[in-house]
Amino acid sequence: MVTARQRHQGRQKSEAQLALELTCMSNLLSTSEERVCFKDRLSRFLLVSTGWLAAYAPGRTAEDLIGKTDFDVFSEHHASAAFADEQMIIKTGEPIVGRVELETFAGRPDTWVSTTKMPLRDEDGQIIGTFGISRDVTAQIRAEKALADQAEQLSAQNERLRELDGMKDEFIGMVSHELRTPLTSIVGYVKLLRDKRTSERDASEYAEVIQRNSQRLLRLVEDLLFLSETHTGKMAVELRSADLAEIAASAIREMRPEAERKNVGLTLSTAAVPRVPVDATRIAQLLGNLISNAVKFTPQGGKVEVRVGAEGDRAVLAVADTGVGIPAADREQIFERFFRSATVTRALIPGTGLGLTIARDIVTAHNGTITVESEEGRGSTFKVWLPLELPVPGVPG
Ligand SMILES: Nc1ncnc2c1ncn2[C@@H]1O[C@H](COP(=O)(O)OP(=O)(O)OP(=O)(O)O)[C@@H](O)[C@H]1O
Ligand SMILES: [Mg+2]
Repeated sequence: MVTARQRHQGRQKSEAQLALELTCMSNLLSTSEERVCFKDRLSRFLLVSTGWLAAYAPGRTAEDLIGKTDFDVFSEHHASAAFADEQMIIKTGEPIVGRVELETFAGRPDTWVSTTKMPLRDEDGQIIGTFGISRDVTAQIRAEKALADQAEQLSAQNERLRELDGMKDEFIGMVSHELRTPLTSIVGYVKLLRDKRTSERDASEYAEVIQRNSQRLLRLVEDLLFLSETHTGKMAVELRSADLAEIAASAIREMRPEAERKNVGLTLSTAAVPRVPVDATRIAQLLGNLISNAVKFTPQGGKVEVRVGAEGDRAVLAVADTGVGIPAADREQIFERFFRSATVTRALIPGTGLGLTIARDIVTAHNGTITVESEEGRGSTFKVWLPLELPVPGVPG
């Protein structure tokens, strides 16, 4: 029968074995960069590694620390938290494994460490203290965070691409529809025109329809080209000092025949405006779009007035009509491409819904603003504000 004493002796290690273990331990502690520390049941230091000293108590020696506690090294807050952890481990025997936490010490960059703390047991399995290893994982955490940020960015980009893809499909659908309508009409009327039974009077009417639809196609293609240029950031405006009243007068001259045909009064009123730095061709196009809308959406006998003036440091162009007006719910959307109010589509007033998108792009390229005021059934006023001075380079506007 084996006595308790014999068991104890059997467990006892030879001196050589003990010496070897001590050498290993001391090598480990003095060469490892890991922050290793052994503490007794009252959390007093028993042994610390060189890595631990370098990280937490530079300039001090391991001997100097023996018998001291975290309260001699760290802030009260940090030391209390560590003490509580260690007492819990001693009480429960449960280790803390790989806990990642941020260490902030005055005068040192913040570091992320991964800490493992275990109960320290003697040969009989009794807990006689704790030991802890912590490792600087700042680089790893930063890399993980950068990766997570990147993943988030990629997923946002992906979402945006999906959205753009959807918009592209919608756009192509709209364009195909807009192209097909006049083309179908042209194909149909050409067929009729070639029919030998068609009278000369009818033929001339068909030719007119063909011409009107061809014109519509041409304008649509021009508008689309223009928008594709502005939306890929290619709209270049050449700002040169110009007379807005002159540009407005010429835009009105172009629209006059259409206004007369519809019996809509078209007038221009100008206040004294200094010359402004604008791209005259683009401003003419902008005014053309606004005036053509005003004439188009104003019934017979109505009025369209174009005003040119200045307010503060901005020139103001206004196009006011006494037409059908724009429902309040639509006022935000009318600048979006292809948007047309149900009021005008129901009334079969022709158009594609690109004119105001182009107008807004031109205004934006001039650092200006465009607004609309309207009352359904009474009329609408579009106003464009343009800076009177060129922006000073380097000074944000
Ligand atoms: N002066 C106006 N009075 C009433 N509604 C207007 C006026 N101007 C624009 N709108 C509304 O805004 C919509 C968009 O105008 P926009 O000029 O972009 O398109 P459009 O005139 O219908 O077509 P396009 O200009 O491409 O030929 C119009 O369809 C109409 O519903
Ligand atoms: Mg229009």
